[in-house]
Amino acid sequence: MTAILDAPATAGLDVDRLIARYDGRVPRYTSYPTAPHFTPAVGAGVYARWLAQLPAETPLSLYLHVPFCDRLCLYCGCNTTVVRLETSHRHYAAMLLREIDAVAGLIGRRATVSHAHWGGGTATSLPGDCLIAVMDRLRARFAFAPDAEVAIELDPTSLPDDRRDALGPMGVTRISLGVQDLEPSVQEAIGRMQSYEETEACAKAARALGVGSLNLDLIYGLPLQTEEGVARTARRALALKADRVAVFGYAHVPWMKRHQALIPEEQLPGPSERYAQLNAIHRVLTEEGGYVAIGLDHYALPSDAMAQAAAGRRLKRCFQGYTTDAAPALIGFGASSIGSLPQGYVQNAPTAAAYIKEIEAGRLATVRGVAVTPDDRLRRDVIERVMCDLEVDLAAVAAEHGADPAPLLEAASEGLEKFVEDGLASWDGRRIAVSERGRPFVRSVAALFDAYLAQASDKPRHSRAV
Ligand SMILES: C[S@@+](CC[C@H](N)C(=O)[O-])C[C@H]1O[C@@H](n2cnc3c(N)ncnc32)[C@H](O)[C@@H]1O
Ligand code: SF4
Repeated sequence: MTAILDAPATAGLDVDRLIARYDGRVPRYTSYPTAPHFTPAVGAGVYARWLAQLPAETPLSLYLHVPFCDRLCLYCGCNTTVVRLETSHRHYAAMLLREIDAVAGLIGRRATVSHAHWGGGTATSLPGDCLIAVMDRLRARFAFAPDAEVAIELDPTSLPDDRRDALGPMGVTRISLGVQDLEPSVQEAIGRMQSYEETEACAKAARALGVGSLNLDLIYGLPLQTEEGVARTARRALALKADRVAVFGYAHVPWMKRHQALIPEEQLPGPSERYAQLNAIHRVLTEEGGYVAIGLDHYALPSDAMAQAAAGRRLKRCFQGYTTDAAPALIGFGASSIGSLPQGYVQNAPTAAAYIKEIEAGRLATVRGVAVTPDDRLRRDVIERVMCDLEVDLAAVAAEHGADPAPLLEAASEGLEKFVEDGLASWDGRRIAVSERGRPFVRSVAALFDAYLAQASDKPRHSRAV
Protein backbone atom coordinates (compact mmCIF):
# COMPACT_ATOMS: atom_id res chain seq x y z
CA MET A 1 0.00 0.00 0.00
CA THR A 2 1.41 3.39 -0.94
CA ALA A 3 1.78 6.11 1.64
CA ILE A 4 -0.51 9.10 1.25
CA LEU A 5 2.36 11.35 0.30
CA ASP A 6 5.95 11.13 -0.79
CA ALA A 7 8.62 11.09 1.87
CA PRO A 8 8.41 14.45 3.69
CA ALA A 9 12.09 15.19 2.90
CA THR A 10 11.44 15.24 -0.83
CA ALA A 11 7.89 16.51 -0.74
CA GLY A 12 7.96 19.22 1.91
CA LEU A 13 7.35 22.13 -0.44
CA ASP A 14 4.74 20.25 -2.39
CA VAL A 15 2.84 19.43 0.79
CA ASP A 16 2.75 23.07 1.88
CA ARG A 17 1.40 24.09 -1.50
CA LEU A 18 -1.26 21.38 -1.50
CA ILE A 19 -2.38 22.36 1.95
CA ALA A 20 -2.57 26.04 1.08
CA ARG A 21 -4.63 25.13 -1.97
CA TYR A 22 -7.02 22.55 -0.54
CA ASP A 23 -7.16 22.76 3.23
CA GLY A 24 -10.36 24.79 3.13
CA ARG A 25 -13.04 24.30 5.74
CA VAL A 26 -15.51 21.87 4.23
CA PRO A 27 -18.22 19.59 5.66
CA ARG A 28 -17.53 15.95 6.54
CA TYR A 29 -20.61 14.96 4.53
CA THR A 30 -22.19 12.59 7.01
CA SER A 31 -25.43 13.79 5.41
CA TYR A 32 -26.48 15.90 2.45
CA PRO A 33 -27.84 18.51 2.91
CA THR A 34 -25.57 18.88 5.94
CA ALA A 35 -26.91 19.63 9.44
CA PRO A 36 -26.36 23.43 9.32
CA HIS A 37 -29.05 23.49 6.63
CA PHE A 38 -31.70 21.89 8.80
CA THR A 39 -34.49 24.34 9.77
CA PRO A 40 -37.42 24.42 12.22
CA ALA A 41 -39.76 24.01 9.22
CA VAL A 42 -39.42 20.27 9.89
CA GLY A 43 -40.72 19.63 13.41
CA ALA A 44 -42.57 16.96 15.36
CA GLY A 45 -45.69 17.08 13.14
CA VAL A 46 -43.73 16.48 9.94
CA TYR A 47 -41.69 13.70 11.59
CA ALA A 48 -44.87 11.94 12.79
CA ARG A 49 -46.21 12.03 9.24
CA TRP A 50 -42.95 10.76 7.75
CA LEU A 51 -42.86 7.85 10.24
CA ALA A 52 -46.45 6.87 9.42
CA GLN A 53 -45.60 6.94 5.68
CA LEU A 54 -42.58 4.60 5.92
CA PRO A 55 -43.12 1.81 3.37
CA ALA A 56 -44.00 -1.47 5.12
CA GLU A 57 -40.85 -3.39 4.13
CA THR A 58 -38.34 -0.63 5.00
CA PRO A 59 -35.64 -2.09 7.27
CA LEU A 60 -34.50 0.33 9.92
CA SER A 61 -31.25 1.33 11.49
CA LEU A 62 -31.47 2.77 15.03
CA TYR A 63 -29.22 5.28 16.79
CA LEU A 64 -29.39 6.04 20.51
CA HIS A 65 -27.61 9.08 21.90
CA VAL A 66 -26.59 9.42 25.55
CA PRO A 67 -25.40 13.01 26.11
CA PHE A 68 -23.56 12.43 29.42
CA CYS A 69 -19.95 11.92 30.50
CA ASP A 70 -18.15 11.65 33.86
CA ARG A 71 -15.72 14.38 32.77
CA LEU A 72 -15.12 16.56 29.75
CA CYS A 73 -12.06 15.83 27.58
CA LEU A 74 -10.76 19.20 26.35
CA TYR A 75 -10.76 18.21 22.66
CA CYS A 76 -14.27 16.78 22.71
CA GLY A 77 -16.50 17.81 19.81
CA CYS A 78 -19.38 15.49 20.71
CA ASN A 79 -22.77 16.52 22.05
CA THR A 80 -22.32 15.86 25.76
CA THR A 81 -22.20 17.43 29.23
CA VAL A 82 -20.81 16.28 32.55
CA VAL A 83 -23.65 14.61 34.46
CA ARG A 84 -22.75 12.13 37.19
CA LEU A 85 -26.05 11.89 39.05
CA GLU A 86 -27.54 8.41 38.78
CA THR A 87 -31.10 9.71 39.16
CA SER A 88 -30.53 11.88 36.05
CA HIS A 89 -29.19 8.89 34.12
CA ARG A 90 -32.18 6.75 35.13
CA HIS A 91 -34.63 9.51 34.22
CA TYR A 92 -33.03 9.88 30.80
CA ALA A 93 -33.30 6.12 30.20
CA ALA A 94 -37.01 6.32 31.11
CA MET A 95 -37.41 9.07 28.48
CA LEU A 96 -35.73 6.86 25.87
CA LEU A 97 -38.29 4.14 26.66
CA ARG A 98 -41.13 6.62 26.14
CA GLU A 99 -39.66 7.89 22.89
CA ILE A 100 -39.22 4.33 21.60
CA ASP A 101 -42.89 3.58 22.38
CA ALA A 102 -44.04 6.79 20.68
CA VAL A 103 -41.97 6.26 17.51
CA ALA A 104 -42.89 2.58 17.21
CA GLY A 105 -46.55 3.51 17.69
CA LEU A 106 -46.37 6.02 14.83
CA ILE A 107 -44.68 3.51 12.52
CA GLY A 108 -47.60 1.28 13.38
CA ARG A 109 -45.97 -2.13 13.03
CA ARG A 110 -43.02 -4.11 14.36
CA ALA A 111 -40.56 -2.93 11.71
CA THR A 112 -37.41 -4.90 10.92
CA VAL A 113 -34.16 -3.61 12.38
CA SER A 114 -30.77 -4.42 10.83
CA HIS A 115 -28.53 -2.26 12.98
CA ALA A 116 -28.58 -0.46 16.34
CA HIS A 117 -25.84 1.91 17.47
CA TRP A 118 -25.31 3.40 20.94
CA GLY A 119 -23.28 6.60 20.95
CA GLY A 120 -22.68 9.74 22.93
CA GLY A 121 -21.25 11.26 25.01
CA THR A 122 -20.70 8.03 26.81
CA ALA A 123 -23.48 5.48 26.35
CA THR A 124 -22.32 3.57 29.44
CA SER A 125 -23.13 6.59 31.61
CA LEU A 126 -26.47 4.79 31.90
CA PRO A 127 -26.55 2.07 34.59
CA GLY A 128 -26.29 -1.50 33.26
CA ASP A 129 -29.91 -2.37 34.06
CA CYS A 130 -31.09 0.73 32.13
CA LEU A 131 -29.00 -0.20 29.07
CA ILE A 132 -30.56 -3.68 29.13
CA ALA A 133 -34.08 -2.29 29.66
CA VAL A 134 -33.75 0.03 26.66
CA MET A 135 -32.45 -2.80 24.44
CA ASP A 136 -35.28 -5.06 25.66
CA ARG A 137 -37.82 -2.39 24.78
CA LEU A 138 -36.30 -1.97 21.32
CA ARG A 139 -36.50 -5.72 20.75
CA ALA A 140 -40.14 -5.73 21.92
CA ARG A 141 -41.12 -2.86 19.61
CA PHE A 142 -38.99 -3.78 16.59
CA ALA A 143 -38.15 -7.08 14.89
CA PHE A 144 -34.35 -7.38 15.05
CA ALA A 145 -33.01 -9.39 12.10
CA PRO A 146 -31.14 -12.54 13.25
CA ASP A 147 -27.87 -11.02 11.98
CA ALA A 148 -28.63 -7.51 13.25
CA GLU A 149 -25.59 -5.61 14.45
CA VAL A 150 -25.68 -3.98 17.90
CA ALA A 151 -22.79 -1.53 18.26
CA ILE A 152 -21.71 0.56 21.22
CA GLU A 153 -19.00 3.20 21.77
CA LEU A 154 -17.03 2.68 24.99
CA ASP A 155 -14.65 4.93 26.90
CA PRO A 156 -12.09 2.48 28.37
CA THR A 157 -11.54 4.79 31.36
CA SER A 158 -15.16 4.60 32.41
CA LEU A 159 -16.60 1.12 32.23
CA PRO A 160 -17.92 0.09 35.66
CA ASP A 161 -18.62 -3.63 36.17
CA ASP A 162 -22.40 -3.39 35.83
CA ARG A 163 -22.05 -1.67 32.43
CA ARG A 164 -19.47 -4.21 31.25
CA ASP A 165 -21.73 -7.04 32.41
CA ALA A 166 -24.69 -5.51 30.56
CA LEU A 167 -22.99 -5.77 27.15
CA GLY A 168 -23.75 -9.51 26.85
CA PRO A 169 -27.46 -9.30 27.74
CA MET A 170 -27.76 -6.28 25.41
CA GLY A 171 -26.63 -8.50 22.55
CA VAL A 172 -23.70 -6.23 21.61
CA THR A 173 -21.90 -7.47 18.48
CA ARG A 174 -19.54 -4.57 17.80
CA ILE A 175 -17.55 -2.36 20.15
CA SER A 176 -15.76 0.89 19.46
CA LEU A 177 -13.11 2.05 21.93
CA GLY A 178 -11.99 5.67 22.24
CA VAL A 179 -8.17 5.65 22.35
CA GLN A 180 -7.17 9.00 20.74
CA ASP A 181 -3.48 9.03 21.77
CA LEU A 182 -1.39 6.95 24.17
CA GLU A 183 1.40 9.48 24.86
CA PRO A 184 1.21 10.76 28.47
CA SER A 185 2.14 14.38 27.53
CA VAL A 186 -0.66 14.53 24.96
CA GLN A 187 -3.13 12.89 27.35
CA GLU A 188 -2.31 15.53 29.94
CA ALA A 189 -2.80 18.31 27.38
CA ILE A 190 -6.24 16.96 26.41
CA GLY A 191 -7.37 16.15 29.94
CA ARG A 192 -7.79 12.44 29.31
CA MET A 193 -5.43 10.13 31.13
CA GLN A 194 -5.85 6.61 29.76
CA SER A 195 -3.23 3.92 30.19
CA TYR A 196 -2.48 1.31 27.55
CA GLU A 197 -3.32 -1.36 30.14
CA GLU A 198 -6.79 0.12 30.72
CA THR A 199 -7.40 0.17 26.98
CA GLU A 200 -6.10 -3.36 26.58
CA ALA A 201 -8.32 -4.65 29.43
CA CYS A 202 -11.33 -3.14 27.67
CA ALA A 203 -10.35 -4.71 24.33
CA LYS A 204 -9.95 -8.08 26.09
CA ALA A 205 -13.36 -7.74 27.75
CA ALA A 206 -14.84 -7.06 24.33
CA ARG A 207 -13.19 -10.14 22.84
CA ALA A 208 -14.26 -12.29 25.81
CA LEU A 209 -17.80 -11.24 25.09
CA GLY A 210 -17.38 -12.69 21.63
CA VAL A 211 -17.99 -9.45 19.74
CA GLY A 212 -17.42 -9.96 16.04
CA SER A 213 -15.78 -6.62 15.43
CA LEU A 214 -13.62 -4.29 17.51
CA ASN A 215 -12.99 -0.68 16.46
CA LEU A 216 -10.50 1.86 17.83
CA ASP A 217 -10.67 5.65 17.46
CA LEU A 218 -7.38 7.55 17.09
CA ILE A 219 -6.97 11.31 16.61
CA TYR A 220 -4.16 13.34 15.02
CA GLY A 221 -3.71 17.11 15.24
CA LEU A 222 -4.14 17.16 19.04
CA PRO A 223 -2.06 19.50 21.23
CA LEU A 224 1.59 18.42 21.63
CA GLN A 225 1.22 15.55 19.17
CA THR A 226 4.23 14.81 16.95
CA GLU A 227 4.78 12.61 13.93
CA GLU A 228 6.88 10.18 16.01
CA GLY A 229 4.37 10.18 18.88
CA VAL A 230 1.34 9.36 16.75
CA ALA A 231 3.32 6.60 14.99
CA ARG A 232 4.12 5.14 18.45
CA THR A 233 0.45 5.26 19.41
CA ALA A 234 -0.56 3.60 16.13
CA ARG A 235 2.08 0.88 16.68
CA ARG A 236 0.84 0.17 20.19
CA ALA A 237 -2.72 0.13 18.87
CA LEU A 238 -1.71 -2.65 16.42
CA ALA A 239 -1.19 -4.94 19.41
CA LEU A 240 -4.87 -4.56 20.31
CA LYS A 241 -5.70 -6.35 17.04
CA ALA A 242 -8.72 -4.23 16.21
CA ASP A 243 -10.72 -5.08 13.09
CA ARG A 244 -11.17 -1.39 12.29
CA VAL A 245 -9.38 1.81 13.21
CA ALA A 246 -10.89 5.25 12.70
CA VAL A 247 -8.33 8.04 12.40
CA PHE A 248 -9.93 11.44 12.94
CA GLY A 249 -8.28 14.83 12.39
CA TYR A 250 -8.80 16.90 15.53
CA ALA A 251 -11.63 19.34 14.79
CA HIS A 252 -10.76 22.51 16.70
CA VAL A 253 -13.98 24.53 16.72
CA PRO A 254 -13.81 26.62 19.94
CA TRP A 255 -16.53 28.93 18.62
CA MET A 256 -18.89 25.94 18.89
CA LYS A 257 -17.27 23.92 21.70
CA ARG A 258 -16.14 26.51 24.22
CA HIS A 259 -14.12 24.12 26.41
CA GLN A 260 -11.75 23.63 23.43
CA ALA A 261 -10.61 27.22 24.02
CA LEU A 262 -8.77 25.82 27.07
CA ILE A 263 -6.33 24.21 24.63
CA PRO A 264 -3.59 26.79 23.94
CA GLU A 265 -3.50 27.34 20.17
CA GLU A 266 0.33 27.33 20.21
CA GLN A 267 0.23 23.69 21.34
CA LEU A 268 -1.70 22.68 18.21
CA PRO A 269 0.23 21.23 15.27
CA GLY A 270 -0.02 23.34 12.12
CA PRO A 271 -1.52 22.11 8.83
CA SER A 272 1.68 20.49 7.48
CA GLU A 273 2.38 18.79 10.81
CA ARG A 274 -1.18 17.45 10.84
CA TYR A 275 -0.57 16.14 7.36
CA ALA A 276 2.66 14.46 8.37
CA GLN A 277 0.95 12.90 11.40
CA LEU A 278 -1.86 11.51 9.28
CA ASN A 279 0.69 10.10 6.87
CA ALA A 280 2.68 8.53 9.74
CA ILE A 281 -0.41 6.77 11.12
CA HIS A 282 -1.38 5.71 7.59
CA ARG A 283 2.02 4.10 7.06
CA VAL A 284 1.96 2.18 10.35
CA LEU A 285 -1.58 0.89 9.85
CA THR A 286 -1.21 -0.08 6.19
CA GLU A 287 2.43 -1.17 5.96
CA GLU A 288 2.93 -2.71 9.40
CA GLY A 289 -0.64 -3.61 10.35
CA GLY A 290 -1.99 -4.81 6.99
CA TYR A 291 -5.03 -2.54 7.21
CA VAL A 292 -6.78 -1.28 4.10
CA ALA A 293 -7.46 2.47 3.93
CA ILE A 294 -11.14 3.22 3.53
CA GLY A 295 -12.65 6.52 2.48
CA LEU A 296 -11.57 9.61 4.36
CA ASP A 297 -10.63 8.28 7.77
CA HIS A 298 -11.13 4.55 8.27
CA TYR A 299 -8.86 1.52 8.17
CA ALA A 300 -10.03 -2.09 8.25
CA LEU A 301 -8.45 -5.53 8.09
CA PRO A 302 -9.16 -7.10 4.69
CA SER A 303 -11.27 -9.76 6.48
CA ASP A 304 -13.55 -7.15 8.05
CA ALA A 305 -17.03 -6.45 6.67
CA MET A 306 -16.14 -2.78 6.14
CA ALA A 307 -13.17 -3.61 3.89
CA GLN A 308 -15.36 -6.04 1.96
CA ALA A 309 -18.19 -3.51 1.62
CA ALA A 310 -15.68 -0.93 0.39
CA ALA A 311 -14.23 -3.35 -2.17
CA GLY A 312 -17.76 -4.20 -3.37
CA ARG A 313 -18.73 -0.50 -3.54
CA ARG A 314 -21.42 -1.08 -0.91
CA LEU A 315 -20.09 1.24 1.77
CA LYS A 316 -22.45 3.96 3.03
CA ARG A 317 -21.91 7.28 4.75
CA CYS A 318 -23.98 8.02 7.87
CA PHE A 319 -23.89 10.29 10.92
CA GLN A 320 -21.46 7.94 12.66
CA GLY A 321 -19.09 8.08 9.68
CA TYR A 322 -18.82 5.01 7.45
CA THR A 323 -21.16 2.04 7.76
CA THR A 324 -21.83 -1.29 6.13
CA ASP A 325 -25.49 -0.94 7.01
CA ALA A 326 -27.70 -0.46 3.98
CA ALA A 327 -31.02 0.26 5.77
CA PRO A 328 -32.79 3.08 3.90
CA ALA A 329 -34.09 4.69 7.13
CA LEU A 330 -32.29 5.65 10.32
CA ILE A 331 -34.31 6.45 13.43
CA GLY A 332 -32.55 8.54 16.08
CA PHE A 333 -33.45 8.41 19.78
CA GLY A 334 -32.27 10.76 22.50
CA ALA A 335 -31.09 14.35 22.70
CA SER A 336 -29.56 15.79 19.51
CA SER A 337 -29.92 12.51 17.61
CA ILE A 338 -30.44 12.78 13.86
CA GLY A 339 -32.75 10.56 11.84
CA SER A 340 -32.65 10.01 8.11
CA LEU A 341 -35.89 8.97 6.42
CA PRO A 342 -36.66 8.58 2.74
CA GLN A 343 -38.43 11.96 2.94
CA GLY A 344 -35.64 13.87 4.70
CA TYR A 345 -33.66 14.46 7.89
CA VAL A 346 -34.91 15.19 11.41
CA GLN A 347 -33.04 16.20 14.55
CA ASN A 348 -34.10 16.05 18.20
CA ALA A 349 -33.72 18.88 20.71
CA PRO A 350 -29.97 19.30 21.29
CA THR A 351 -29.79 19.36 25.10
CA ALA A 352 -30.91 16.67 27.53
CA ALA A 353 -33.14 19.21 29.34
CA ALA A 354 -34.95 20.34 26.16
CA TYR A 355 -35.32 16.74 24.98
CA ILE A 356 -36.73 15.58 28.33
CA LYS A 357 -39.19 18.49 28.41
CA GLU A 358 -40.70 17.46 25.07
CA ILE A 359 -40.87 13.74 25.86
CA GLU A 360 -42.35 14.38 29.32
CA ALA A 361 -45.04 16.49 27.66
CA GLY A 362 -45.95 13.52 25.46
CA ARG A 363 -44.50 15.04 22.28
CA LEU A 364 -41.79 13.95 19.86
CA ALA A 365 -38.60 15.95 20.50
CA THR A 366 -37.95 16.90 16.84
CA VAL A 367 -36.85 20.52 16.55
CA ARG A 368 -35.43 20.80 13.05
CA GLY A 369 -34.76 18.98 9.83
CA VAL A 370 -34.97 19.24 6.09
CA ALA A 371 -37.06 17.59 3.39
CA VAL A 372 -34.84 16.29 0.58
CA THR A 373 -35.56 17.30 -3.01
CA PRO A 374 -34.83 15.15 -6.10
CA ASP A 375 -31.74 17.33 -6.71
CA ASP A 376 -30.59 16.72 -3.10
CA ARG A 377 -30.95 12.95 -3.62
CA LEU A 378 -28.91 13.05 -6.81
CA ARG A 379 -26.13 15.15 -5.26
CA ARG A 380 -26.22 13.07 -2.07
CA ASP A 381 -25.53 9.92 -4.10
CA VAL A 382 -22.65 11.58 -5.95
CA ILE A 383 -21.15 12.88 -2.69
CA GLU A 384 -21.62 9.51 -0.97
CA ARG A 385 -19.83 7.63 -3.76
CA VAL A 386 -16.94 10.13 -3.73
CA MET A 387 -16.62 9.89 0.08
CA CYS A 388 -16.93 6.06 0.13
CA ASP A 389 -15.32 4.84 -3.13
CA LEU A 390 -13.13 7.82 -4.01
CA GLU A 391 -14.65 7.31 -7.45
CA VAL A 392 -17.87 8.17 -9.19
CA ASP A 393 -19.33 7.90 -12.66
CA LEU A 394 -21.42 11.06 -12.83
CA ALA A 395 -23.33 10.08 -15.96
CA ALA A 396 -24.25 6.71 -14.43
CA VAL A 397 -25.50 8.25 -11.16
CA ALA A 398 -27.51 10.86 -13.08
CA ALA A 399 -29.03 8.08 -15.23
CA GLU A 400 -30.07 6.14 -12.08
CA HIS A 401 -31.95 9.26 -10.97
CA GLY A 402 -33.41 9.97 -14.42
CA ALA A 403 -31.64 13.34 -14.18
CA ASP A 404 -29.80 15.55 -16.64
CA PRO A 405 -26.08 14.97 -15.97
CA ALA A 406 -25.10 18.40 -17.38
CA PRO A 407 -24.96 20.39 -14.07
CA LEU A 408 -22.80 17.67 -12.45
CA LEU A 409 -20.48 17.40 -15.44
CA GLU A 410 -20.14 21.15 -15.55
CA ALA A 411 -19.32 21.38 -11.82
CA ALA A 412 -16.70 18.65 -12.27
CA SER A 413 -15.11 20.18 -15.37
CA GLU A 414 -14.83 23.55 -13.68
CA GLY A 415 -13.76 22.40 -10.24
CA LEU A 416 -11.53 19.42 -10.94
CA GLU A 417 -8.91 21.10 -13.06
CA LYS A 418 -6.60 21.99 -10.17
CA PHE A 419 -7.07 18.58 -8.50
CA VAL A 420 -6.01 16.90 -11.75
CA GLU A 421 -3.10 19.29 -12.16
CA ASP A 422 -1.85 18.36 -8.68
CA GLY A 423 -2.29 14.61 -9.21
CA LEU A 424 -5.08 14.38 -6.63
CA ALA A 425 -7.73 13.12 -9.04
CA SER A 426 -8.31 12.03 -12.61
CA TRP A 427 -11.27 13.03 -14.78
CA ASP A 428 -12.27 11.61 -18.16
CA GLY A 429 -15.33 13.72 -18.83
CA ARG A 430 -17.79 11.52 -16.88
CA ARG A 431 -15.83 9.61 -14.25
CA ILE A 432 -13.82 11.02 -11.32
CA ALA A 433 -11.20 8.95 -9.53
CA VAL A 434 -9.52 10.46 -6.47
CA SER A 435 -5.91 9.25 -6.22
CA GLU A 436 -4.25 7.87 -3.10
CA ARG A 437 -2.50 11.21 -2.78
CA GLY A 438 -5.87 12.96 -2.99
CA ARG A 439 -7.49 10.84 -0.24
CA PRO A 440 -7.00 13.43 2.55
CA PHE A 441 -8.71 16.02 0.32
CA VAL A 442 -11.69 13.89 -0.67
CA ARG A 443 -14.07 16.21 1.22
CA SER A 444 -13.00 19.04 -1.06
CA VAL A 445 -13.77 16.93 -4.16
CA ALA A 446 -17.20 16.05 -2.73
CA ALA A 447 -17.79 19.75 -1.99
CA LEU A 448 -17.76 20.48 -5.74
CA PHE A 449 -21.24 18.93 -5.87
CA ASP A 450 -22.63 20.67 -2.78
CA ALA A 451 -25.23 23.14 -4.07
CA TYR A 452 -25.64 24.69 -0.59
CA LEU A 453 -21.97 25.52 -0.10
CA ALA A 454 -22.19 27.86 -3.06
CA GLN A 455 -24.82 29.96 -1.24
CA ALA A 456 -22.41 32.42 0.33
CA SER A 457 -24.89 34.11 2.70
CA ASP A 458 -24.96 31.65 5.61
CA LYS A 459 -21.74 29.70 5.16
CA PRO A 460 -21.30 27.53 8.24
CA ARG A 461 -17.77 27.23 9.62
CA HIS A 462 -16.38 23.73 9.42
CA SER A 463 -13.20 22.14 10.67
CA ARG A 464 -10.05 21.83 8.53
CA ALA A 465 -10.21 19.45 5.53
CA VAL A 466 -7.01 17.70 6.68
C1 LIG B 1 -18.72 10.03 20.95
S1 LIG B 1 -17.04 10.18 20.93
C2 LIG B 1 -16.41 9.24 22.25
C3 LIG B 1 -16.82 7.97 22.78
C4 LIG B 1 -16.36 7.82 24.24
N1 LIG B 1 -17.04 8.78 25.04
C5 LIG B 1 -14.86 8.04 24.40
O1 LIG B 1 -14.45 9.15 24.69
O2 LIG B 1 -14.11 7.08 24.30
C6 LIG B 1 -16.50 9.27 19.53
C7 LIG B 1 -15.15 9.70 18.99
O3 LIG B 1 -15.18 10.97 18.45
C8 LIG B 1 -13.84 11.44 18.33
N2 LIG B 1 -13.79 12.87 18.63
C9 LIG B 1 -14.32 13.50 19.70
N3 LIG B 1 -14.08 14.82 19.63
C10 LIG B 1 -13.38 15.04 18.49
C11 LIG B 1 -12.83 16.20 17.85
N4 LIG B 1 -12.96 17.42 18.37
N5 LIG B 1 -12.18 16.04 16.69
C12 LIG B 1 -12.04 14.82 16.12
N6 LIG B 1 -12.53 13.68 16.68
C13 LIG B 1 -13.19 13.80 17.85
C14 LIG B 1 -13.01 10.63 19.30
O4 LIG B 1 -12.09 9.84 18.58
C15 LIG B 1 -14.04 9.77 20.00
O5 LIG B 1 -13.55 8.51 20.34
S1 SF4 C 1 -14.33 12.25 24.23
FE1 SF4 C 1 -15.82 10.82 25.06
S2 SF4 C 1 -15.49 10.81 27.28
FE2 SF4 C 1 -14.43 12.59 26.48
S3 SF4 C 1 -15.94 14.22 26.76
FE3 SF4 C 1 -16.15 13.46 24.64
S4 SF4 C 1 -17.73 11.95 24.72
FE4 SF4 C 1 -17.07 12.33 26.84
